[in-house]
Amino acid sequence: MESLDDTEATLRGQAHIWKHMFAFVDSMALKCAVELRIPDIIHSYGGGPVTLVQIASRIPSPSPGTTYLARIMRLLVRKNIFSTHRRQPDGSQESHEMLYSLNPSSRWLLQGPGSENSLAPMVLMEDHQWLMSPWHCLGDCVRTGGVAFEIAHGRKIWDFASENPEFNHLFNDGMACTSKILVKAIVEGYKDGFESIGSLVDVGGGTGGAVAEIIKSYPHIQGINFDLPHVVATAPAHTGVTHVGGDMFETIPHADAVFMKWIMHDWGNEDCVKILKNCREAIPERNGKVIIAEVVLKPEGDGMFDEIGLVFDLLMIAHSSGGKERDELEWKKILEEGGFPRYNIIKTPSMLSIIEAYPL
Ligand SMILES: C[S@@+](CC[C@H](N)C(=O)[O-])C[C@H]1O[C@@H](n2cnc3c(N)ncnc32)[C@H](O)[C@@H]1O
Repeated sequence: MESLDDTEATLRGQAHIWKHMFAFVDSMALKCAVELRIPDIIHSYGGGPVTLVQIASRIPSPSPGTTYLARIMRLLVRKNIFSTHRRQPDGSQESHEMLYSLNPSSRWLLQGPGSENSLAPMVLMEDHQWLMSPWHCLGDCVRTGGVAFEIAHGRKIWDFASENPEFNHLFNDGMACTSKILVKAIVEGYKDGFESIGSLVDVGGGTGGAVAEIIKSYPHIQGINFDLPHVVATAPAHTGVTHVGGDMFETIPHADAVFMKWIMHDWGNEDCVKILKNCREAIPERNGKVIIAEVVLKPEGDGMFDEIGLVFDLLMIAHSSGGKERDELEWKKILEEGGFPRYNIIKTPSMLSIIEAYPL
């Protein structure tokens, strides 16, 4: 006979599966809030507390569905994306009107005033159908060894971006919003690492936001933002930054140091070694270095960002062609093969570490 503990464990197991079966609902509710700019609306009232009617009144629609909105907000409150309390204006218990406020989570979702550090463009990008559809192909990848993005869209992500300006924008905006946040953490964690550098090339730098942010803290550095031609073609001008279009598998512009954020995780070991060898060609042998900003996986770790490292590893199956997240041993191996036998790992207050690697 099953003990009470077994019955409880079985029931919990069932609840656990229901929760995971519908985990995508959390993402969709989050995306909906960003699309409707609910965080911005609450921010426009000083961050709350605001009523549902006040939120609805600023949604650009002649008749917003407040009952739908209330239900979506109820889930997001439960998920701690927004805070809430009940209005009791005269101390009575009779009024049940819910009031909503921003909290430390929803403050990351602003797109208007106050959005200096925002993950909203990343939410819109990652939760867009274009990037969601490859997630349905993980099983095919296991069965056939195929590439999820290619199964879903018939071509690699970078070719898709070069052919589809809307996706190109969506992707580059998503990446750019992370630059401000993560580069701030990188500069904080890497402190003196940029001090001795006269010129810095950001390989796969997207639209140049990361190198521009670094230069704001280190204005003596000459910055080069290097990416595929269709990406730099849409990049805004940044003070102190020159945009260069090209292919990192062919050649990389010369500089004192190479910076690469979220590049190596897009590629398999063989491709990473090719990129590293080209980095080595691009920097002085004696005192050049590569500064790699990436996840260093700790699969069993209980740090704030350790679990998201594993999620990013699957993200690489979904969106890249052969990419993966790596633990320290895996990093050591490709660095050595790519001509960088000496390295340090520096933690930053973010999901990324700095892997500083030297040719000698
Ligand atoms: C994941 S994104 C990272 C962008 C940026 N470093 C960041 O973290 O925000 C990868 C970047 O690599 C660029 N890329 C892909 N293949 C490339 C190549 N062969 N040469 C140069 N850049 C490339 C993409 O266009 C894209 O901007």
